[in-house]
Amino acid sequence: MIRVERLSQVFHSRDGGSVVALHDVSLGVERNEFVSLVGPSGCGKSTMLRLVAGLIAPTRGALEIDGTRVTEPRRDIGIVFQSPTLLPWATVAENVLFPLQLMREGGADSRDRAQSLLDLVGLKGFESRYPRELSGGMQQRAAICRALIHDPAILLMDEPFGALDALTREVMSRELLRIWTENPKTIVFVTHSIPEAVFLSDRVIVMSPRPGRIAEVIDVPLERPRTFEMEGRSEFQDCTQRIRRLIFGADDSAVSGSAAA
Ligand SMILES: Nc1ncnc2c1ncn2[C@@H]1O[C@H](COP(=O)(O)OP(=O)(O)OP(=O)(O)O)[C@@H](O)[C@H]1O
Ligand SMILES: [Mg+2]
Repeated sequence: MIRVERLSQVFHSRDGGSVVALHDVSLGVERNEFVSLVGPSGCGKSTMLRLVAGLIAPTRGALEIDGTRVTEPRRDIGIVFQSPTLLPWATVAENVLFPLQLMREGGADSRDRAQSLLDLVGLKGFESRYPRELSGGMQQRAAICRALIHDPAILLMDEPFGALDALTREVMSRELLRIWTENPKTIVFVTHSIPEAVFLSDRVIVMSPRPGRIAEVIDVPLERPRTFEMEGRSEFQDCTQRIRRLIFGADDSAVSGSAAA
């Protein structure tokens, strides 16, 4: 569904310097596949999502969705950013409906749809509240509803649980899998948590920094539905170990404990 071929992205600064954010990256994502991107800070993960979303144009290479070159933001894509970025003056329901308002759509069925999404993520009863009245985790759940309101075929998520505490994060990842199972879509998910990537994904794309490239693509050999008990399995641990080694090198004893937790 998503085809990335020999993509490179160079950013130029005003003082004449340049940063190669991505170099010669090729990648394919199947329809309804769940793929994660992991890699050190600055390796180009967000840049990759912004390219797929059509928010920036690649310096070199080809990027296609369903056989069509991406040249501008597409309406069949939903994006969840690291921070919820809700409109402070709008209620939760208004925030969720905002993309439809921009697309000049909406009406009674979209309000029903917003309601059922909010129910799905456990925000029933908070429709008329303002973002400041919600916890961080609740705001992020509202942002996920907003990304899903137009039923996009592709969901791009940039560290959506990065600001959440560990418990909420577990609840949210289970919730995300439930939403994805009930309503399949292609998901590209960026995270700094290696176990989270393995738990959620069909494949984990491990990136290396400066310039950002794909170090390896790891197939996760765990069946679905996923359960947290699977984290104790040797297949799970083999995956996380392999990814840690790719990111931190062979001797990961000093860093893997904190950096990958
Ligand atoms: N608009 C921009 N202008 C100039 N440089 C940029 C721009 N966006 C990203 N970069 C540079 O491109 C590189 C990759 O950035 P990117 O945000 O994609 O990394 P990342 O993998 O998402 O990092 P993090 O894990 O910290 O979010 C970085 O060196 C960054 O400084
Ligand atoms: Mg980023």
